[in-house]
Amino acid sequence: MDKDDGTLLDDIVKTLQVEGESAKFADLSADTAAEFFSGSDPAAKHTDSRNGKAAIVLSEAKNQPVSGSARAPVETQMPDLTSMDLQTLRQVAVKCTRCPLHKDREHVVFGCGQVPAELMFIGEAPGAEEDSKGVPFVGAAGQLLTQMIKSMQFQRSDVYISNIVKCRPPGNRIPEDSEAQTCMPFLRRQIELVSPKVIVLLGAVPLKYILNKTGITSLRGRWESYGGIRVMPTFHPAYLLRNENAKKFVWEDLQQVMKCFGKVHKPVRERTS
Ligand code: URA
Repeated sequence: MDKDDGTLLDDIVKTLQVEGESAKFADLSADTAAEFFSGSDPAAKHTDSRNGKAAIVLSEAKNQPVSGSARAPVETQMPDLTSMDLQTLRQVAVKCTRCPLHKDREHVVFGCGQVPAELMFIGEAPGAEEDSKGVPFVGAAGQLLTQMIKSMQFQRSDVYISNIVKCRPPGNRIPEDSEAQTCMPFLRRQIELVSPKVIVLLGAVPLKYILNKTGITSLRGRWESYGGIRVMPTFHPAYLLRNENAKKFVWEDLQQVMKCFGKVHKPVRERTS
């Protein structure tokens, strides 16, 4: 087998591994799932559960990279993304080497969920778990985000989830301005294709790059607009893992979003079933 055949085989094995991940369920303990509303909140009871475990379906890892930096050609010019469909956009993204973040990545974490989708969530950047699986929000913060989505009476598979940057910054540092700016054309085109009614911004980084604003603490919970789409900034789930007290504010923000979809949170005593 010559070197090219070996490389090709390597790529196929990697792709199959990621495809395999797309059908897996990631364990999430029922306790962790209930944690978002401290167990006492009935919203936590909407968690899908198998043998006492909640499940996150890892979807849309298809066409994933094969993104080894050693073989990646250096591409500087961003092609015209304006008329690309999602699959083509993903193919361009998974080969991207336009910023230094490509060097350490295992996968490009492009995005997952429905297209079009009524509701879209935008985070900051993939972490270690996301980099290894090629799917956004599957680590600890992702489990909490999934619980938040269920508490809003949506399924994770109903919504679209992406990040400001598609490759993991080393050590989970905040993306550099140049990295975010380089990656933003992908997200802008994703938003056009997803065409959501509402976007939820998770934390200060998407606030900065989607709305060009700073101050998540004062801007969370206030409706904003991005090209005519309603935008709700709120705290990042990773922040909630460290600051339990902030969950009540996020729940207020999410309830405003639910109202846009005619969904109303009912305390358990008001439910008929
Ligand atoms: N945090 C993010 O902002 N995005 C992810 O995908 C995971 C964690």
